Amino acid sequence: MWFYVILFICSLTTAGYCTTDFYNLLAYRVTGSTLSTISTSDDLACAEACGKNSSCAAFLLSDESSTCELMTSLTGIIRDVTECSYYVRKIGTVMVGDKTLNFIDQLRISILYSTDDGCPDGWTSSSATCSSSQMNASTCNQLPSVLGATWDGKTCTVPKFTVSYACPSASYQLYNVSESYYCYLGVPAPSAPDQHWDYYNNICYEKTQGNLASIHSAEENLIVNGLGENKVIGLIPTNGISGMVTGMSSIAWFDGTPVDYGNYTYPATGPSISMTYYFTYMAVEGNWITNKKVLPANTTLACKVEATRVFNKVN
Ligand SMILES: *[C@@H]1O[C@H](CO)[C@@H](O)[C@H](O)[C@H]1NC(C)=O
Ligand SMILES: *[C@@H]1O[C@H](CO)[C@@H](O)[C@H](O)[C@H]1NC(C)=O
Ligand SMILES: *[C@@H]1O[C@H](CO)[C@@H](O)[C@H](O)[C@H]1NC(C)=O
Ligand SMILES: *[C@@H]1O[C@H](CO)[C@@H](O)[C@H](O)[C@H]1NC(C)=O
Ligand SMILES: *[C@@H]1O[C@H](CO)[C@@H](O)[C@H](O)[C@H]1NC(C)=O
Repeated sequence: MWFYVILFICSLTTAGYCTTDFYNLLAYRVTGSTLSTISTSDDLACAEACGKNSSCAAFLLSDESSTCELMTSLTGIIRDVTECSYYVRKIGTVMVGDKTLNFIDQLRISILYSTDDGCPDGWTSSSATCSSSQMNASTCNQLPSVLGATWDGKTCTVPKFTVSYACPSASYQLYNVSESYYCYLGVPAPSAPDQHWDYYNNICYEKTQGNLASIHSAEENLIVNGLGENKVIGLIPTNGISGMVTGMSSIAWFDGTPVDYGNYTYPATGPSISMTYYFTYMAVEGNWITNKKVLPANTTLACKVEATRVFNKVN
């Protein structure tokens, strides 16, 4: 059965977002709050706007009114055979026990359990179960079957879980940053003169399904520094792949997160002089260099991917 179509963002003329993926849901409606609405009927332009804002979890593209509604704080996914205009951002893998779930169930569980306390949001927690009297027979039965929900005529009950985080393999490093967990992997950079950040990001994507790392604290800088000798990180120019960089306002993180930390040495004030931008790498000492076009020998790509969220039944 088809649940979704994957939309790969590849809008090279503007910001150069090429690998952030969204799933176009078929026969599902998504509920949540509106972040903003923009005028476009172009799915790529809409996806790019959502991809650039880390609060944007989904969007609704209306052909009739040529509007794109960016959505945040999702509350649910509802089966609706008439809908095919909702797109949701890829999320980190969700597992219940050792079961691999389809994307819709992963998304449903991720929306239901926005915190890690082991019960769906707003449910009553006891030692081994979670219950809700706000549900009815049909909403209880529509929960992902892997949760093993039961309905006794009055109350919907699911087992209580412990929530933990895991990486795709032991080669990755797990680290939590502002309440989210990520896995980091150093991938050897090929020797390729004059390539821009997008070339290296595509390699990260192929190897890890993630992107060049964004960095938001001195602690995260240290984690990334441990990945290799020189490390390419995910700073990009906002005005195209080989855009001119003229200051801090013309750079962004590829993953759309805010630019709230920096450790520049060349140039010391960050990318403040007019220059054609290729990439930023972190040198051995942890400082960042933005004004080169050839990588030093022994460079690693610092790849960052969302960790897998694992739910296990409390015994
Ligand atoms: C996302 O969009 C909202 C609404 O336009 C804005 O307030 C917020 O600052 C944006 N966040 C980022 C990370 O760009
Ligand atoms: C169950 O609850 C949902 C949402 O609250 C509602 O739309 C639906 O009509 C209810 N179904 C029954 C059988 O009461
Ligand atoms: C992240 O890890 C630190 C150190 O292990 C811990 O103190 C903190 O509670 C963790 N944060 C979250 C959101 O789990
Ligand atoms: C920048 O990196 C250097 C070398 O790792 C480190 O000593 C320094 O504390 C970092 N600066 C900031 C602001 O994190
Ligand atoms: C690259 O790494 C190897 C092995 O760690 C080392 O022998 C060599 O000197 C390094 N090359 C450069 C240019 O740093």
